[in-house]
Amino acid sequence: MTKNKTNTMWGGRFEEKPSDIMTQINASIDIDKRLYAQDIAGSKAYADMLVAQKIIPAEDGQKIQHGLDQIKNEIESGAFEFSYALEDIHMNIESRLKDIIGDSAGKLHTARSRNDQVATDFKLWVRDACDAMTSKIEDFQNVLQNLIIEHENTIMPGFTHLQVAQPVTLAMHLGAYKQMLERDKQRFINCKANANQCPLGAAALSGTGFPIDRNATANALGFDAPQPNTMDAVASRDFATEFLFACAQCGIHLSRLAEEIILWSSSQFGFITLSDAWSTGSSIMPQKKNPDAAELVRAKTGRLNGNLVQLLTVMKALPLTYNKDLQEDKACVFESFDTLILCLDASSGMVSTMSVNKDAMLSAAKSGYSTATEIADWLVRNLGMPFRDAHHITGAIVKVAEDKNLKLDELDLAEMKKIEPRIDGSIFDVLSVEGAIKSRQK
Ligand code: ARG
Repeated sequence: MTKNKTNTMWGGRFEEKPSDIMTQINASIDIDKRLYAQDIAGSKAYADMLVAQKIIPAEDGQKIQHGLDQIKNEIESGAFEFSYALEDIHMNIESRLKDIIGDSAGKLHTARSRNDQVATDFKLWVRDACDAMTSKIEDFQNVLQNLIIEHENTIMPGFTHLQVAQPVTLAMHLGAYKQMLERDKQRFINCKANANQCPLGAAALSGTGFPIDRNATANALGFDAPQPNTMDAVASRDFATEFLFACAQCGIHLSRLAEEIILWSSSQFGFITLSDAWSTGSSIMPQKKNPDAAELVRAKTGRLNGNLVQLLTVMKALPLTYNKDLQEDKACVFESFDTLILCLDASSGMVSTMSVNKDAMLSAAKSGYSTATEIADWLVRNLGMPFRDAHHITGAIVKVAEDKNLKLDELDLAEMKKIEPRIDGSIFDVLSVEGAIKSRQK
């Protein structure tokens, strides 16, 4: 990085160069260099349009295209020298273009401002990020779907209040996460669809007197249309806050699964064993196998939520139109993207390689009188009893089982008859966990 070169892009009316701290607070190149591909694509589409509209000569247009292609290669090969003094990716690229093609470079910025340029670049980046996230979520859903098929009949306790409630299958439990992820995926699809208007051509804030063709650039860049209000185009970042919310919500879903993986892999639950590749050991306690990846997925929710709150706070009460505050819109989005991709990969890795201890799940499902609701339902269905009365009688039966330290399906029919004489042997059909689940799948 070269530091402290006077800004050649806007330094015309400046006699002094900026102070070092000014350069430091002002520069965004460390972060926004990640927009280089979008910036170059935006400029190439823009230059084509300027030529087509006869705003610049075709010869300059060609030079600009070649220069931008060369810059892309330089950046991708690591040869490009980024400069702090040139602030951001837009001015770094434009300055290099001037080095390569000379004065023609100066024509690229005709009728354009960094304000519409950055909004366009960033929106393009977020649109691509939505696609990447959608396919990453699908990968994880496929991992879950394989387990759902495999564990259609794997019985486990379903919990409420983290107390054993009713028997369920592991397929049902994982199916719940697959559904949450389906909505998460839809949120990214919607986020992209909402970001379908192109800011380019808004210029600084009020458009331009040059005869630009905003439809041409919007089409070339894959947008549905130009953003109709130019002030909105340069000042709005709700496409980014929406993306951050979609990341935060998906992260929260992953954190709930991570929490369950942590609980299930504990010796108290013993429902699953994480593969060695997805656990860590303790430097002092040799017996330990820790679910660190799950704990980190759980904790990274903090960053995802924080990033959302950060940008919402930047945007709150910001007057129209562009303010430099808006430069603080990218780091949070990039970080949330990287974090969520990592969490989705880690969740896929952990879940696809864990082993399921079916016996432990089954015996936990049999504990805690998990089929008590079935007794109540049987009384309602077979004796026409009001549910509240059935609930009361069932409570009395559970109490007897508890006193005798028996599971419900181990209780004598005679014991149940003492409480409700009309109960008959058919009640045992629903008292086993298998029977309870079958009665619900009808
Ligand atoms: N680096 C700036 C950003 O990210 C680009 C736009 C600068 N515009 C301006 N008027 N200073 O927001």
